[in-house]
Amino acid sequence: EHRKAKTIAIDGPAAAGKSSVGLALAQHLGYLFFDTGVMYRAITLLALEQGVPLDDEEALGVLAETTIIDVQPPAGHDDGRYYTVLVGARDITWALRTPQVDASVSYVAAHPRVRLALTAQQRRIGQRGRVVMVGRDIGTVVMPDADIKFYLDASPEERARRRYDELVARGQEADYDAILADLRERDRLDSTRAVAPLRRAPDAIYVDTTGLSRDEVVERLLDLLGAREEVS
Ligand code: DC
Repeated sequence: EHRKAKTIAIDGPAAAGKSSVGLALAQHLGYLFFDTGVMYRAITLLALEQGVPLDDEEALGVLAETTIIDVQPPAGHDDGRYYTVLVGARDITWALRTPQVDASVSYVAAHPRVRLALTAQQRRIGQRGRVVMVGRDIGTVVMPDADIKFYLDASPEERARRRYDELVARGQEADYDAILADLRERDRLDSTRAVAPLRRAPDAIYVDTTGLSRDEVVERLLDLLGAREEVS
């Protein structure tokens, strides 16, 4: 009897392809796709708009504890979005993707009180099963008992090029060198913070996506999923 993986964790550094691969995998399996980064980004956006200092853990914690972030299917939009993110009636899907949010989110995500609030929401969603959850600490902290864990990685230069191509495709201004510098800085902040740093779980399968297309990565993950199910 094959034991089908019901909870799939995907972690890795910024722009390693986690979201595009995670979405395609979820669609293939008929699972919910949940990109946890949007929660940290939403709190960051609101903090920037409200003038909350990025080192004010208490105010940021309250924001994370009281803001209801709703993630819905992208139906009705054909602007390349993977999902629609709402706070109340406001669509913040693209507002989450600005360079300002990119540059600030790692500071917000480093606060234990913010992580506690958002991790609790993520666990509730994970407990329903049939989910592909994407982030930095899914396999280590949010769903340590996930049925299968992947760690996606790629060289900083390749990740910067992918982010650059995405921005250009959306008609936004983009500076490759600035993007590369920002990615390196986020890698450093995300992997050196005290609480839930970006780290490969010991039981996560490492996948280097450098030079691979999204579909090639998805195929590899499906192969690994099948192989894992045959031996268990
Ligand atoms: O995946 P992303 O680029 O949208 O994530 C944005 C930031 O949020 C990232 O720099 C670190 C943080 N994050 C986190 O700390 N834990 C997660 N599970 C997801 C994202």
